[in-house]
Amino acid sequence: MDQNELKKAVAQAAANYVKDRLDQHTVIGVGTGSTANLFIECLAEFRHDINATVASSEETAKRLKALQIPVIDLNSAPEVTVYVDGADEANSYLQLIKGGGGALTREKIIAAVAKEFVCIADGSKLVDVLGQFPLPVEVIPMARSHVAREIVKLGGDPVYREGFITDNGNIILDVHNMSIVDPRTTESQLNQITGVVTNGLFALRPADKLILGTKDGLKTLTR
Ligand code: A5P
Repeated sequence: MDQNELKKAVAQAAANYVKDRLDQHTVIGVGTGSTANLFIECLAEFRHDINATVASSEETAKRLKALQIPVIDLNSAPEVTVYVDGADEANSYLQLIKGGGGALTREKIIAAVAKEFVCIADGSKLVDVLGQFPLPVEVIPMARSHVAREIVKLGGDPVYREGFITDNGNIILDVHNMSIVDPRTTESQLNQITGVVTNGLFALRPADKLILGTKDGLKTLTR
């Protein structure tokens, strides 16, 4: 199976998992990115059974609506029953780097609310130590230089993501060469910098379940 087929397999597995748990109150959190897009296509097959979804980006909301899947505002959702999303990297503790697509802040908000967070990814995303993938940090535009200097003090090399504005009107710094041996501490340190909206480490709120597509089949890790 190529990488796209592995992504399709995990998307289908997550859709089956969600479908088995649906009732009239279920609210599904839907992530952003190529794997999440495949999950959205699977959701469309049982759209009539879906009470509501909440979207982690404008792009995801557009895709859900185009397939006539009901989307509500998170503030109107009494709960998020299960949140399904991809990741840029994952470790065996189900801590993640996310935000390659720039949707990290809304993704983190939905993860915070969700009762259960199911991460889906092809097996190449599993790493021993997070940080090979540049860590995205969403920043208020006027704080860009200040935040970049503070990140350098923490040992990272921040790179401005040229021409990219988040759904929240902010910019992204992608942090290279950051040694993330203690993801929870790094996540907190970055969030303490004035001007940072959030960062793409999902360590304080990791996934609850990680479904990986590998050449030997699906592997599920649970926290
Ligand atoms: C979006 O901002 C990201 O967090 C994505 O969830 C992540 O980049 C995974 O994307 P792919 O499924 O396209 O690899």
